[in-house]
Amino acid sequence: MLELERAQVFYGGAQALFEVSMEIEPGEVVALVGRNGAGKSTALKALAGWEPLREGTIRWNGSALRAVSAEQMSRLGIALVPDSRQVFPLLSVEENLRMSSVAHKASRWTIESAFSLFPRLAERRTAAGAALSGGEQQMLAIARALLCQPAVLLLDEPTEGLSPIMAQAVLEAIRTVASEQIGIVIVEQNARIPLQLARRFYVLDSGCVAWKGNREAFLRDEEKVNRLMSV
Ligand SMILES: Nc1ncnc2c1ncn2[C@@H]1O[C@H](COP(=O)(O)OP(=O)(O)O)[C@@H](O)[C@H]1O
Ligand SMILES: [Mg+2]
Repeated sequence: MLELERAQVFYGGAQALFEVSMEIEPGEVVALVGRNGAGKSTALKALAGWEPLREGTIRWNGSALRAVSAEQMSRLGIALVPDSRQVFPLLSVEENLRMSSVAHKASRWTIESAFSLFPRLAERRTAAGAALSGGEQQMLAIARALLCQPAVLLLDEPTEGLSPIMAQAVLEAIRTVASEQIGIVIVEQNARIPLQLARRFYVLDSGCVAWKGNREAFLRDEEKVNRLMSV
């Protein structure tokens, strides 16, 4: 289990997270929602060791981690797919996947199993990264993260800018991945999107957890949640 406990993150003198606590269990899809600038990306980066904590603790399976770095978190199996997607534009789909693969024969996620999760990518295996649609790039970015054999997958706005059909394909793939005991945090600005997947929700507002609860409570509290998320 991955936990953030009372995390504070600053950019220079500006505080982006105020004592944010959250946890992700294996096989659980957790949604992290909130309006633009609420601190969602910062919280994901803190969980992945991409942004240092000024105060607070990251725990992995109960032990507090010291001197957290992105390399260390990645070795522990924490994979972040940033909103920028970071696909190599000049490499083909297959070469992009080979760059990330630490897979061996016994690994759950190989280039071939990533292609069966995303048949669309298999069709595009020789296309250059730069030639992919937004949805295909997102699929490639998720596939690359899976090739690191993650225990926890952190997805920053995976459906942003995608057509409804592509967004649905990405969400279905996320559902499949979660069914294999991988913990998932999905960040979205629109709470409707993760509603079909997530078991628990955190709503961030101005760098604080303004609301948290399970899906049933989220639906019951929809009015309050909408207020916290409206621009
Ligand atoms: N690299 C950065 N340098 C300075 N301020 C930043 C940086 N990234 C984010 N911020 C600020 O931190 C706050 C939270 O941003 P972010 O985590 O990106 O929010 P969200 O993902 O919810 O839109 C915002 O006020 C944003 O302007
Ligand atoms: Mg963001």
